[in-house]
Amino acid sequence: MATITYVQPDGRPVTLTVDDGESVMRGAVLNGVDGILAQCGGGASCGTCHVYVADPAPALPPMHAVEDELLYGTAAPRRDTSRLSCQLPVDDRLDGLVVHLPDRQI
Ligand code: FES
Repeated sequence: MATITYVQPDGRPVTLTVDDGESVMRGAVLNGVDGILAQCGGGASCGTCHVYVADPAPALPPMHAVEDELLYGTAAPRRDTSRLSCQLPVDDRLDGLVVHLPDRQI
């Protein structure tokens, strides 16, 4: 379980407790957080769960090649802090994570 804060493009934060085994994407979708479309349902094929991870960030899993490639095609510009939130599994190591939502996903 981890407390994760999703910050809208206008600066509005939403802080949620997300269960282990979910992803950062699913935490948002299950709780009705705007700004994450997740059109492929977490299959790492749509790129519409793009987030910017705030610094300092907890230790995140390494980025796989598919995620890296998809991030070059996201609607909002890729930054050094970009991740696909469906590729971030939740456990207590992510407690305190803050992600900023881009202004568009498509
Ligand atoms: Fe489609 Fe993450 S939900 S890539």
